[in-house]
Amino acid sequence: MKRIAILVSGPSRGSNMRAIIEACQSGRIPDSAVVAVVGARGDAPALETARALGVSTAVVNPREFPDADAYAHALLWVLQRAQPDLICLAGYMRLLPKPIVEAFPMQVMNIHPALLPLFGGQGMYGLRVHQAALDSGMKVTGCTVHFVDERYDTGPIILQRCAPIHDDYSPETLAARLLPIEHETYIEAVRLFMQGKLRVEGNRVRVDE
Ligand code: GRF
Repeated sequence: MKRIAILVSGPSRGSNMRAIIEACQSGRIPDSAVVAVVGARGDAPALETARALGVSTAVVNPREFPDADAYAHALLWVLQRAQPDLICLAGYMRLLPKPIVEAFPMQVMNIHPALLPLFGGQGMYGLRVHQAALDSGMKVTGCTVHFVDERYDTGPIILQRCAPIHDDYSPETLAARLLPIEHETYIEAVRLFMQGKLRVEGNRVRVDE
């Protein structure tokens, strides 16, 4: 059985997290289990959902540490204890601390609600991403699952899926249209990883299927 840890933020609603947990539990992602969800607040909606689905949770709150290094090492310790084959960021809004990127090279994935490298980077999260897509005048947007490196939204791209932008869309409608596509794309990327079907060559990820 392969092991997945999921990292969320304080206010995360956790819908991508839920999609991955349920896909493991139903066998859609075969021979895999989410063994831990790590968040920043014990009462976060995502952590409550994880517990209701029978998954262990842990809290590492960056505000409770004297500095970024202390937070990074506490988070690393919690993640290493879970012995994950893969770590999934699901609404984790911070830059992943370097010691974690180094300890789990090409073993951390993130989902971003746009077609990277467009509309990514520091501060590009939530409705801001969708507003930027609308402002650009583009007729399509989408989501991206990528491996995580030491910068925001720049690691090798694993999968992308598109969705049309209609003239009457607001950032909210766009977010709502994309969310189920995000869930499908993330599940697919995790399944491919767990089945050993992803090969990273420089900045490109080959899918052997
Ligand atoms: C999603 O839109 C994801 O693309 C982004 O943060 C949001 C998290 O939503 N990284 P949820 O907590 O998974 O519902």
